[in-house]
Amino acid sequence: MALKILGTGSALPEKIVTNDDLAQVVDTSDEWIRSRTGIEARHLSTGETTTELSVRASRLALEMAGVDAETIDLIIVGTVSPDTYFPSTACCVQAAIGAVNAVAFDINAACSGFMFGMEIAASYFSKGSAKRALIIGAEVLSRVMDWTDRGTCVLFGDGAGAAIVESREDGLWELVQGSDGAKGEALICKNRPIQNPYYKEADKVDYTHMDGQAVFKFAVRTVPAAIKQAMEKAGVEDGDVKYYLLHQANIRIIESVAKRLTGGDSLEKFPTILQKCGNISAGSVPILLDYANREGMLSEGDKIVMAGFGAGLTWAAAVMEF
Ligand code: ACO
Repeated sequence: MALKILGTGSALPEKIVTNDDLAQVVDTSDEWIRSRTGIEARHLSTGETTTELSVRASRLALEMAGVDAETIDLIIVGTVSPDTYFPSTACCVQAAIGAVNAVAFDINAACSGFMFGMEIAASYFSKGSAKRALIIGAEVLSRVMDWTDRGTCVLFGDGAGAAIVESREDGLWELVQGSDGAKGEALICKNRPIQNPYYKEADKVDYTHMDGQAVFKFAVRTVPAAIKQAMEKAGVEDGDVKYYLLHQANIRIIESVAKRLTGGDSLEKFPTILQKCGNISAGSVPILLDYANREGMLSEGDKIVMAGFGAGLTWAAAVMEF
């Protein structure tokens, strides 16, 4: 059972914050951020919610696919920054777009969320429980950043990407995924404190903490290995791949993965949007997919690789035909 992408969409908050803008509020510089990460700017929410961005992206994907929201059987949102504990973002999206026949739920796989969502959809398709799905990766990460911690707040951005996918008998869908919970502390944001009549934790709101070097090492080792495995499973070689659409965390991670996969320094097959968006966790792969799609870079039948990796730790690499 394979997946077919019928349409894609994405949405970013209106407010663009450049590295120079950030240098006005935290002790950093354009030179530091650009040289270590490749990031030049990011979009930050000035009120746009995770649900609103998801809905905007979904409407664009539905429009491109030319299908009615009522024909969607399954809605999955990958997010670590929902507006509410419950209901899920997926249920809020369902209500907003009128996808009355869908089953809807969120998953937390951080930057791998969109990829994990695609695999869940593939499983539903294989079982015959769904035929058409809306998969979203969406974040308002600015709400979980410590805006006094220059080591993290400069890296991330807000936004959402969506894809309408359908099951098909022929075609390609091979995915390799994994998790390493033992390294979870490398990238962590704690929930609100436990407070009840019998127990009171300190009343402290927590924000994102990251061991940047540990995450960097994990990414450059695990991602190329997972991609190679997925390509082997699919019987696909580098020469067959039109584009590698990687999670947009850091240009140096992408360059390193590119080198390990293709042996060269060229990023031609590794499109990037992180310069303008920063790292949008679960949003980054579907936003990049939508960008490539709308730029006319993808044609039917093109073989593409997509890979997500991040907190958990989690990772997933997939090979599919566009
Ligand atoms: N501006 C200026 N200086 C800074 C900044 C900043 N924004 N952030 C940190 N520094 C300083 C530190 O204080 C430190 O100063 P010191 O030497 O005087 O103590 C110095 O820069 C080096 O700090 P490191 O944290 O060691 O910086 P490093 O070279 O490791 O780069 C970075 C940090 C860019 C985060 C790097 O570790 C990295 O790329 N990691 C990958 C992690 C990543 O991309 N995470 C994204 C989320 S996870 C994911 O999506 C997969």
